[in-house]
Amino acid sequence: ENESTVSITVVGASGDLAKKKIFPALFALYYEGCLPKHFTIYGYARSKMTDAELRNMVSKTLTCRIDKRENCGEKMDEFLKRCFYHSGQYDSEENFAQLNKKLKEHEGGRLSNRLFYLSIPPNIFINAVKCASTSASSGNGWTRVIVEKPFGRDSESSAALTKALKQYLSEDQIFRIDHYLGKELVENLSVLRFSNLIFEPLWSRQYIRNVQLIFSEDFGTEGRGGYFDHYGIIRDIMQNHLLQILALFAMETPVSLDAEDIRNEKVKVLRSMRPLRLEDVVIGQYKSHSKGGVTYPAYTDDNTVPKDSLTPTFAAAALFIDNARWDGVPFLMKAGKALHNKRAEIRVQFRHVPGNLYNRKFGTDLDQTTNELVIRVQPDEAIYLKINNKVPGLGMRLDRSNLNLHYAARYSKEIPDAYERLLLDAIEGERRLFIRSDELDAAWSLFTPVLAELEEKKIIPEYYPYGSRGPVGAHYLAARYNVRWGDLG
Ligand code: BG6
Repeated sequence: ENESTVSITVVGASGDLAKKKIFPALFALYYEGCLPKHFTIYGYARSKMTDAELRNMVSKTLTCRIDKRENCGEKMDEFLKRCFYHSGQYDSEENFAQLNKKLKEHEGGRLSNRLFYLSIPPNIFINAVKCASTSASSGNGWTRVIVEKPFGRDSESSAALTKALKQYLSEDQIFRIDHYLGKELVENLSVLRFSNLIFEPLWSRQYIRNVQLIFSEDFGTEGRGGYFDHYGIIRDIMQNHLLQILALFAMETPVSLDAEDIRNEKVKVLRSMRPLRLEDVVIGQYKSHSKGGVTYPAYTDDNTVPKDSLTPTFAAAALFIDNARWDGVPFLMKAGKALHNKRAEIRVQFRHVPGNLYNRKFGTDLDQTTNELVIRVQPDEAIYLKINNKVPGLGMRLDRSNLNLHYAARYSKEIPDAYERLLLDAIEGERRLFIRSDELDAAWSLFTPVLAELEEKKIIPEYYPYGSRGPVGAHYLAARYNVRWGDLG
């Protein structure tokens, strides 16, 4: 393997994602010694740029974010020397053939593996895949392509995209990223469940009352309105990030940790889901709000968003898995932008303890006394379990306390960014954290009918002030299933 080489081409190198995530992640991998000995990174985009200009652009995005960085500057220089730029059109075989020539020079006759990261919109990525696979694929090693969402807007467009991709690539060359799968606590979900005896026996309708998947951001779509308006929060967050977490949470024990075994189980859960009905969905959109002398914009204040847009920036949904394990257990999802905080978490609310031994100590609100397991994916990663405990003293008073695994206190090592793990996996050919096409189909089947209905019926979103806790409709939805959102205390 020492004599093989990996060439990584970031297509769409001057875009936001490349600057914010891809180059920094590649540098972090380099810093950690995770990249192969022989590697070259190419930025590919339409604008004219020299290698030096690319290096300058990339250098501004790199941080020495890990502790004890004495030699970080040095490492950055080494890394930047391995970065190059090629200017070309996304649909030009000729331009990709020129890239191929340059890559070959760097590869110097070694076994050459090629990774293309397509950080460009889907309407142009098919042509880029065509050109890359016909004019710039490896003659002797592997060629892999990472694609970012959105993978279509519904079942039909997604299937068309998959079909088009498969003209040029086989399924095992396609790495569909959902970066939530690269997050430390999402990956840990299976460890928590399957390697601790105390959790797995409780993981079913018998002991779990409901599961909540919550995503919130404290900023709006500023600057991304053009993209966002075409998709909305259900497609942007629920259909992928939250649904992927749900699948990992709810799947049966896989036969092994192999990618296919895990993905087989995820698909099964997704295919067991009850069709989502319109009445189980609440949508919202943020409106302008002034606080402390600052006026925060409405979603429709964004110049790239039509003034009469009905696109949801918030959604809540009640989902059900019609299988033996989860029959009747509500899985509630909530996702929104321009809310009061930034957070992603999983909340598992357990059933009441049967009998009445201590219940009278709590007064009437029994729901407040059930155990709740919280997996805080971000920020400030933590896993904690709310338990009932005796308040120390001579009397007998109970309160709720947390058994708390707080990552910052427990682990001194910084948590890698999701993109680091995913890029490394793609280089190593590990597919466990990437979305297989049947998973994608199942995810779209769940949301497509309701999305179509929302759009056809022109359902008006419930307006909520920027920076608030979101529409009150989300509470009514939860209440219908006897659920109270755990994040609201
Ligand atoms: C992206 C969405 O997939 O995830 C964005 O398109 C969202 O709208 C982002 O802001 C959130 O990712 P993270 O890792 O910052 O929570």
